[in-house]
Amino acid sequence: MCGIVGYIGNKSAAPFLLDGLTKLEYRGYDSAGIAVFDAHDVFIEKSVGRLDALKEKLKGVTLDGVIGIGHTRWATHGRPSDQNAHPHTDCNGEFVVVHNGIIENFMPLKEALIAKGHHFTSETDTEVVAHLIEEFYEGDFAAAVRAVLKKIEGSYSLVFMSEKHPDTLICAKQDNPLVVGLGDGENFIASDIPAIISRTRRTYILNDGEIAIVKKDSVEITDREGKPVDKKIFHVSWNAEAAEKGGYEHFMLKEINEQPKAVRDTMSKRVAKDGSRITLDELNWSKEFLDGIDKVYIVACGTAYHAGLVGKFYIEKLARILVEVDLASEFRYRDPIVDEKTLVIVISQSGETSDTLAALKEAKRRGARTLAVTNVVGSSIAREADQVVHTWAGPEIAVASTKAYTTQLILMFMLALYMAQLRSTVSDERARELIGLLKKIPAQISETLSDVEPIKTFARRYGFNEDVFYIGRSLDYDVALEGALKLKEISYIHAEAYASGELKHGTLALIVEGVPVIALATQKSVYEKTISNIKEVKARDAVVIGIAADGDEEIGKFVDHVMFVPDTDELLIPLLAVVPLQLLAYYAAITRGCDVDKPRNLAKSVTVE
Ligand code: F6R
Repeated sequence: MCGIVGYIGNKSAAPFLLDGLTKLEYRGYDSAGIAVFDAHDVFIEKSVGRLDALKEKLKGVTLDGVIGIGHTRWATHGRPSDQNAHPHTDCNGEFVVVHNGIIENFMPLKEALIAKGHHFTSETDTEVVAHLIEEFYEGDFAAAVRAVLKKIEGSYSLVFMSEKHPDTLICAKQDNPLVVGLGDGENFIASDIPAIISRTRRTYILNDGEIAIVKKDSVEITDREGKPVDKKIFHVSWNAEAAEKGGYEHFMLKEINEQPKAVRDTMSKRVAKDGSRITLDELNWSKEFLDGIDKVYIVACGTAYHAGLVGKFYIEKLARILVEVDLASEFRYRDPIVDEKTLVIVISQSGETSDTLAALKEAKRRGARTLAVTNVVGSSIAREADQVVHTWAGPEIAVASTKAYTTQLILMFMLALYMAQLRSTVSDERARELIGLLKKIPAQISETLSDVEPIKTFARRYGFNEDVFYIGRSLDYDVALEGALKLKEISYIHAEAYASGELKHGTLALIVEGVPVIALATQKSVYEKTISNIKEVKARDAVVIGIAADGDEEIGKFVDHVMFVPDTDELLIPLLAVVPLQLLAYYAAITRGCDVDKPRNLAKSVTVE
């Protein structure tokens, strides 16, 4: 999500920090800051906005300090602002910290620290880390860091600097990337390799639970107990462009592979520890609030609209409230039946799509209660809506949305279950069962991503067809729509999704010998019907590729090829079924030589009507 850099050596730190942050700006760009320690003081400068705004503030400032840290932010806790930008300090400005990740238990820690007299200046989760180290410090910097790490829960890569120890930087990692670059008489720290690749290719890639004590001539790595870890040097062979994509050929592939983490982050802190409830603390709804709502409208565009279709299914199935789903560009001109008893949920990765924003304003004008589901803290849509729940997917760079979709799905699922628990429309037993399965989804996505060879083969075999059809029933149909959109937008193959039951009302006329049909068959409640639709297209000599759940021994009898995904409840399986479809679109685009990350005629964020 955020980008982190650190420098310690004989040269001025600031040029490396700014250069490194420039290379990392793709990770986050709502604010940035640096801290540099010269002989006497820590100098800190931060600025909301892109890195250029920080560079502008630093114009004319001479910074000679040879130790420093920097950060480019993608807001999670606390909107983008100068105050919330990193680095953060303790009460006396003696300890300085930058952080990437989410400190899940920051609220109780913050309350306890305030009760002890600590003074906070930001809304971030990170600032508790700076105050905690102030609390624990007794002369040993590394021991204080270890004590802090024992207190915090969640994910982090952290870098600490202290004016009491002007020869040391300490960094620590849990569930977020962190790398130490080894130089001669100087060492570097970064969240990602692109930041350091122009300075060194000799690195230590830190593992979870490891702490690095970095001086200009040495790097000592320990575990959280302070026990030394024997680490091998990793020589980076990637070029700068590949490094930015984490070694993947395209941002889209990188983002597809980031889905387990993105989904895990989006779930984090929102499931009660005992697995009994969904806890969307940011909403704080009650049964009375929901009783005052007679209809939900979900409004969005493109992939986010497809996530909305799945969201409708979830809310109706679990919370038993009527849901309409509409395209934002239609809703705003429809004279929609919306009043103060309507809850309008807008979904938008960027939070800036102009049709979605206009639809939200229209809904508000008509008196609806509004909720935004967005990936960007402080975006226009986040600011306009009455309430916001964020997906924690991190910046999505590729035009074709992937990790945003799966995080939107997981959030809509949690929202629906949250509403259902408030309304008592699911039993405690069913809720526990679903939450148990929900927690397994990140690992199951990883499993789905582990074997791409068959998908590459299909892409090579069918990547030059002019038309591809996607069919499915129930939630499989919603996923089919997303699969077809992915294929269209990046491979330029004409792809259409149909509800299987609709085939014989027209589309079947297009099914002729050799036409590829991707048939989703993951929904157990409509499985028999789906099979009979597959037989219909097979009878017209289509080439059928089935998407089915592990353990399905029937499907192979009716289709030409099968891609299996791990089995789970049919409500959750869209999160897994979409993954092979994303990969199929990706590899089809590669087969056809298309520009995957920047498809023709499309922009990442559609801020014009
Ligand atoms: C497709 C895609 C678009 C977006 C749509 C809405 O891969 O990315 O269809 O989903 O433009 O964008 P947001 O979610 O930013 O409102």
